[in-house]
Amino acid sequence: MSAPLFEKVAFIGLGLIGSSLARVMIAENLATQIVASTRSKQTLEDAKALGLIQEGYSDPIEAVKGADLVVLALPVRATQKVLEAIQPYLSENVILTDVGSTKGNVVDAAKAVYGEHLPAGFVPGHPIAGAEHTGVHAGKVDLFANHKVILTPLPSSADWAVEKLIQLWQAAKAEVICMDVEKHDEVLAHTSHLPHLMAFNLVEQLANREDNLDIFRYAAGGFRDFSRIAASDPQMWHDIFFANKKAILNAVDGFEKQLKTLRQLIEDENSQALMGVLGHAQAARQHFNHMLANKPLMEKNKVTTQQFTILPGQKNFQGKFTVPGDKSVSHRSIMFGAIAEGTTHVTGFLEGEDALATLQAFRDMGVSIEGPKNGEVTIHGVGMHGLKAPASALYMGNSGTSMRLLAGMLSAQKFDSVMTGDASLSKRPMERIAKPLRAMGAHIQTTGERGTPPVSITGNQPLKGIQYDLPMASAQVKSGILLAGLWAEGETAVTEPEPTRDHSERMLRAFGYEVKTEGNRISLQGGGKLMATDIQVPSDISSAAFFMVGAAITEGSDVTLEAVGINPTRTGVIEILKQMGADLTVENERIAGGEPIADIRIRGTRTLKGIHMPEDQVPLAIDEFPALFIAAACAEGQTILTGAAELRVKESDRIQVMADGLKIMGIDCTPTDDGIIIEGKGKAGEWGAIFTGGEIESHHDHRIAMSFSMAGLRTSGEIKIVGTETVATSFPTFTALANQAGLTIQVSE
Ligand code: S3P
Repeated sequence: MSAPLFEKVAFIGLGLIGSSLARVMIAENLATQIVASTRSKQTLEDAKALGLIQEGYSDPIEAVKGADLVVLALPVRATQKVLEAIQPYLSENVILTDVGSTKGNVVDAAKAVYGEHLPAGFVPGHPIAGAEHTGVHAGKVDLFANHKVILTPLPSSADWAVEKLIQLWQAAKAEVICMDVEKHDEVLAHTSHLPHLMAFNLVEQLANREDNLDIFRYAAGGFRDFSRIAASDPQMWHDIFFANKKAILNAVDGFEKQLKTLRQLIEDENSQALMGVLGHAQAARQHFNHMLANKPLMEKNKVTTQQFTILPGQKNFQGKFTVPGDKSVSHRSIMFGAIAEGTTHVTGFLEGEDALATLQAFRDMGVSIEGPKNGEVTIHGVGMHGLKAPASALYMGNSGTSMRLLAGMLSAQKFDSVMTGDASLSKRPMERIAKPLRAMGAHIQTTGERGTPPVSITGNQPLKGIQYDLPMASAQVKSGILLAGLWAEGETAVTEPEPTRDHSERMLRAFGYEVKTEGNRISLQGGGKLMATDIQVPSDISSAAFFMVGAAITEGSDVTLEAVGINPTRTGVIEILKQMGADLTVENERIAGGEPIADIRIRGTRTLKGIHMPEDQVPLAIDEFPALFIAAACAEGQTILTGAAELRVKESDRIQVMADGLKIMGIDCTPTDDGIIIEGKGKAGEWGAIFTGGEIESHHDHRIAMSFSMAGLRTSGEIKIVGTETVATSFPTFTALANQAGLTIQVSE
């Protein structure tokens, strides 16, 4: 066992927070000796009886002697007095920290005692955790688990002290964030102190009414939710409001201003603007939920938030289904609607997290957007020069399309911007779009390691058109460049090595913007404008693909996917499945909203056969390979994929992750640099189990999770897929539809 992190720890104060931290230290063997000083003798006796401390003192001076960590866990207002007393007795290299909920005044107290030369071991901290009960008995060893702890190192703080405190709080399973003191107090003023002040204020306002009894008697959930925190300790909040006075007054000013705006909109009966503000707030709240839900993905010690369990023995796979709207088209409908003149109505919009991230980004840039409601969205376009600077970084979640296309648009704006994303997006290459944009004159930086997000853009840079030969077949990069080209001087042209999805070109034309396609060269002239139009989003063939594969590998299945987009730049999956011998027909072809659509019917009538997948189909089926690998495993003979290195930089390394999962499930396969070789286990006319079952890691890639779900149709054992929460990015109704068709997918959080 390694030596404990600390020799002697002294707690000054041992309430809920202090005693919880002491419990962590004991559980994790972090200290050789723990002592405390408190004013209450009873507390010290109780702490000893609980086994939390070896010694208890009423005088803090006795406690701190020889300690290498001193934790001030007492009311913030007592800090200065205690520091004055203990200062002469502190060891030279002591780490001194606190747990108070305001930080500026703790630093002021320290300065009052030490002058400007604060000790190197002084690092203020704030664990954001609490409970209804207080006191030494209320402490819990897991109080800080999955909570945030903010450390506010000062210029005088030594790295060794900060690092040791980070280790301490990580041992408590907390997420440690470092920020400066002013930022801490400002953030807390807005996210904690202002809401408490508002709750006290509302209850007080209602309590002062003559009819208060009636009001409280009839008050429903809204009042209860909003006022819950007004039942908190008045003394504590009294102290906090004074302790963080400056930042709280700023937050109150901001609140008053916003309230006045709302008041005016109601008085003026300004329906559109009021809907804009309420819609923006609602979306921000939902987005915030999503960020919270996704938070564990970003933690180093990853916590899986959702898993699928698929039970073997499913025979049926049948029905007519409408899968959600196309992700690529949904993104573009918001982007183009936002910069158009006039109002754009969208139907069939994909209410998945990726497209919602785009929607939120434009709301953050001042665009009034109504919906989505049942797939309908109304965008009040602001024109080519109407986007406004977002108040903070734009959060793109899991969505590479949002980040790369927006990189182009944001490079041309007058304001600076930053884009961030979740753990998966934070690993994806962004230099592929940054490089051509720089050649156009953009000031854009990929600030992550190895050219990855966050992406930071300095606005107000004049752009000029370029001719760019795309080094890889990427519709996102093509689109990002063309979008920047809308604001650039002269012609912007992109030549692609192979045709990729052309939704940007089609939709720009639908918005009245001229785009030329000459072979593989696509070009437009900058300086024009987009005119609002109505967009009908077709069902996403990439989502339909899972059901197509499911039906193709299941005996007697009969599945029809209705009104699926069959844009020729997206139909690689149909072509490849047909070449593998699937019983697949494309019926009822028609045009809707400028895109060809059709019903696709697949029946399980014959065993698929392995093929060398045609390289020219790779860009046209780029998102469907994980599902096609499942089909290949069920086929008779070998399937070879080449020319698909791009799969390695999708939401996960789809070649490696699929190969790993297939091997776990008993399939012989060999990943190569640009593809994979899969030894199909199918035999003509036989429909028994192909997969053994097992536990699959999806690497938070939605398409990996959905592909392995389909393997459940041919498995002998149970399949567990971990990290499936990202399915909601593109196909929120996936499990409902799959279960309706005959699979049994159980979802557990
Ligand atoms: C997309 C393009 C493709 C695709 C992605 C959506 C788009 O990415 O994989 O799901 O909407 O333009 P690449 O451009 O990286 O190939």
